[in-house]
Amino acid sequence: MINLASFTPDKIRNFSVIAHIDHGKSTLSDRLLERTGTISTRNKNEQFLDKLQVERERGITVKAQSASMVHTYQGNEYLLNLIDTPGHVDFSYEVSRSLYACQAALLLVDAVQGVQAQTIANFYLAFEQGLTIIPVINKIDLPNADPKRIGEEITKLFGFEFSECILASAKQGIGIDDILNAIVTRTPPPIGNREKPLRALLFDSWYDIYKGVISLIAVKDGELRKGDQITLAQVNNTYEVLEVGLMYPHQTPTDVLYAGQVGYVVAGMKLLNEARVGETIHHYRKPVELFPGFKPAKPMVFAGIFPTDNDEFELLQDAIAKLMLTDASVKIEKKSSPALGLGFLCGFLGLLHMDVFKQRLEQEYNLNVIITAPSVVYKVLLTSGDTIDVETPSDLPDVQRIEKILEPIITATIITPQKHLGAIMQLCHERRGEQKNMTYLSEERVILTYELPLNEVATDFYDRLKSLTAGYASMDYEVSTHKEADLVKLDILLNSKSVDAFSTIVHREKSFYVGRELTARLRSAIPRQLFEVVIQAAIGAKIIARETISAMRKNVIAKCYGGDISRKRKLIDKQKEGKKRMKQIGTVEVPQEAFLAVLQKEQ
Ligand code: GTP
Repeated sequence: MINLASFTPDKIRNFSVIAHIDHGKSTLSDRLLERTGTISTRNKNEQFLDKLQVERERGITVKAQSASMVHTYQGNEYLLNLIDTPGHVDFSYEVSRSLYACQAALLLVDAVQGVQAQTIANFYLAFEQGLTIIPVINKIDLPNADPKRIGEEITKLFGFEFSECILASAKQGIGIDDILNAIVTRTPPPIGNREKPLRALLFDSWYDIYKGVISLIAVKDGELRKGDQITLAQVNNTYEVLEVGLMYPHQTPTDVLYAGQVGYVVAGMKLLNEARVGETIHHYRKPVELFPGFKPAKPMVFAGIFPTDNDEFELLQDAIAKLMLTDASVKIEKKSSPALGLGFLCGFLGLLHMDVFKQRLEQEYNLNVIITAPSVVYKVLLTSGDTIDVETPSDLPDVQRIEKILEPIITATIITPQKHLGAIMQLCHERRGEQKNMTYLSEERVILTYELPLNEVATDFYDRLKSLTAGYASMDYEVSTHKEADLVKLDILLNSKSVDAFSTIVHREKSFYVGRELTARLRSAIPRQLFEVVIQAAIGAKIIARETISAMRKNVIAKCYGGDISRKRKLIDKQKEGKKRMKQIGTVEVPQEAFLAVLQKEQ
């Protein structure tokens, strides 16, 4: 058995793999672990690094998994620590912290698809942190692979020589040794001093039902042993270390973690939010300089989650509590909605994060939920001079109290084949986008930079982009600023009663269109009732759209019953069954499908 703790910094290499979604990061990681004998080659189809069911289904990495491996180069053994990063823009803070623990990054680019939006975003994250970047062109086994063309993109955009690019096929195991050797030869070893006081960076943590919170740390200086008292500097909590070790590839306890090493620590923490990504760990009462850039998770998108059946509230509450053990970045607050009953207001890092959370509720806990249209966080300057954050439309103060509303703006990078340029520009224009830049990546492909309101991309922008370009465009974004906008709260009234769940904040210019659209959708989703139902869209007291559902005619009801007792019984039973799926808004009964129809396609 190799003594994992014995590797000194000059024999350690810490690296991560950065890539656009689907360019083969997980496959390559598995191959590296196999080639170094860390995992067996038997379960080839079982990816080691991707774990959640939703990750497998969608082929995305939500939760990073790191692993150590030992590679022999020119007769010397090296400990290579692969620090995995989440593969999506919502988690860019986590990516930046993981990269901070590395000295190098493999920049993986698909030999058919070439550089995509996330390739660029990830490149810059790694570049800004001063990492050695090793370009790898993957999937060269594919019949239409064009490594030369992709190499040109890489050299043009990032300034590499073509000779620096490693040609590989993670699937067929081509180029894997070259990659391992390049990690050893091109990456500088971590700089660390064992003699200095302990200074370690926490870059990932997860919840284990037996051990509580397990954190991954990069030890920059000093050493960490079982039994040590440690302090997490930002939250200022102190714990006793119960176990330390390396992910080889599963938790493998060691006596000690030395400067330069990357490993896990178990310290009896019960809640994930005690172990925030970016934390600085030091020995109790031996403070050290903090690692820069710590920031607690900040939700960008809010949505209400309600049980479809009100009786399932407790189940939902339980499930959410359990999910929060594994995801500390969701912000949860109980919320009561007159229309949807008791539920939760949840804050997410982004749209994918929201989708994943919802899918996990449904898949892992078998719950059916109604999720309200996502809302972004507005900054509202009041006439009193105060500024408040508004997370849901119902929190927007009265118009008279508002001086101005600022909305979050993203800077989006979109890479597209040139032939779709017109359609994308049109889409961005419709979504109040402002073009900032346009450069040619090659003769056929263009990089567009746009500023867009987050609110306008919060619903179906990404899907529209994909369908307009047959899946060939890619997008990445970061929230860049807040800007003033002429925004209004649009309410939907059913027989004069406002339905909180349907309220939305929209740009004034779009409010008529959105109002007409929502009322029309509700008109076709709400069944006729014994009385007339008036559906209105309103901004303050001003009605901007109206639809009417006329009352059920009395003779229709009479005909239904028709004196036939068994038919009457059946009808009443059916109505009872139906009632369960109805929500009562004032006197109007609204079927759950109507909520889904409106909320899931809002805007
Ligand atoms: P995220 O987890 O979303 O970041 O994706 P990923 O980058 O980890 O991609 P993944 O490894 O899941 O690979 C995506 C798809 O590409 C899978 O269907 C892989 O089997 C396939 N793939 C990966 N590498 C190769 C390769 O070298 N050749 C071929 N032909 N297919 C590959």
